Amino acid sequence: MTDNASDTPKPKGQGQAMWGGRFSAKPAELMQAINVSIGFDKRLWAQDLAGSRAHARMLMNQGVISSSDGEEILGGLAKIEDEIATGTFPFRDEYEDIHMNVEARLRELIGATAGRLHTARSRNDQVAVDFRLWVRDAVDRSAAQLEALQKALLAQAETHADALMPGFTHLQPAQPVTFGHHLMAYVEMFGRDASRFRDARARMNECPLGAAALAGSPFPIDRHQTAAALGFDRPTANSLDSVSSRDFALEALSAASITATHLSRLAEEIVLWTTPMFGFIKLTDAFTTGSSIMPQKKNPDAAELIRAKVGRILGSLTTLTVVMKGLPLAYSKDMQEDKVPTFEAFDALELSLLAMAGMVADLTPNTENMAKAAGAGFSTATDLADWLVRTLNMPFRDAHHVTGSAVKTAEGLGVDLADLTLEQFQAIEPQITQDVYAVLTPAASAASRMSYGGTAPAQVRAQIARWKELLE
Ligand code: ARG
Repeated sequence: MTDNASDTPKPKGQGQAMWGGRFSAKPAELMQAINVSIGFDKRLWAQDLAGSRAHARMLMNQGVISSSDGEEILGGLAKIEDEIATGTFPFRDEYEDIHMNVEARLRELIGATAGRLHTARSRNDQVAVDFRLWVRDAVDRSAAQLEALQKALLAQAETHADALMPGFTHLQPAQPVTFGHHLMAYVEMFGRDASRFRDARARMNECPLGAAALAGSPFPIDRHQTAAALGFDRPTANSLDSVSSRDFALEALSAASITATHLSRLAEEIVLWTTPMFGFIKLTDAFTTGSSIMPQKKNPDAAELIRAKVGRILGSLTTLTVVMKGLPLAYSKDMQEDKVPTFEAFDALELSLLAMAGMVADLTPNTENMAKAAGAGFSTATDLADWLVRTLNMPFRDAHHVTGSAVKTAEGLGVDLADLTLEQFQAIEPQITQDVYAVLTPAASAASRMSYGGTAPAQVRAQIARWKELLE
């Protein structure tokens, strides 16, 4: 339960709450319980202090407050930062949120001058700038962590650019690829994910501070100054939009959801590849856990948890979308519900990205098993059909039919395509020659796919080189 406002001693000159002037009774306990946000928005403390500093300096520069008042305020804010950093700052429910907690403490530290900080400002533009700064940091971190994950994938891809494995469609053996090629598919996906975060950042990088409650300010404020001080490209251009929009967070959560979707696919492949039935890769003890009953187990829990996190992250996008839907302009308290899902989503995403990068670096492929599997399931059947087209000038449809008969014969004999004798091939198509065997190995199959972006090791290495340069 939250503190009852009247039980806590008040600083001098303080009403029941910051906005207590027009109220004669203290808020009901339940009102406070539903209203209070300090429990979660304390995470915005660094952004709140940065916003307050930029605002105070601008007010001084513009002569809205005196320099001595401004210096006192800045000194008090520095003390608060120190208190928070050392864990002595009193976060109090009675002051609702981070903004009023900071201001109340400032008043305790420097007295009535603290009240001048809120000139030409409202909590509406204050929370808008704090939250934007937080989300901006979060997307920067996500992009950086994606790049670290890409580098881990690139290192494995480079080592295993030639290692054969089955390529699948419908999770059925389709055509041989290389392990490096498969990993590079994720490098592409995560590269787009990082660029989505960068795009979102560019769009969100406008400063809402100075919109005040909703209509702007009658004071001679300089919004360009505060925008620049906080690293924004420019101030937002409409005061109503400034305090009522959270699409920057929605966009960040969308990018996070798509990233989490990609992570879940790689996680699922790791789960599959580590089962003894696949036996494609091994994780060390660092990224596996044991079973309390079955001594032989080595479970890929980290991969499973990453696979699951998309639920939480996409759930956060849904939550915030529904919170924002149908809200009239401008600020409504509904928007206080923006923070928890956003914090939760990025906490989950960051942990997933770090764990995935760790797991990718940790894994060792069993290249022998992979290569064996690469040849199974008549995976070079397409190569036989292509040979018939190229060498015998057969229309592809006919070549497809002839190859189907060869597969049927091999299947009936319980052998691979390459194990059929020339006589057996010629019984199906008399023009087939000894040369055909050269295209029936998985290695030849992969090496032949030299089209741009194809699985030929030379192509894979070219893409690895391109990405290494991009990620420099
Ligand atoms: N704690 C509030 C939030 O997170 C801050 C803004 C409150 N503004 C107001 N007019 N009550 O949205």
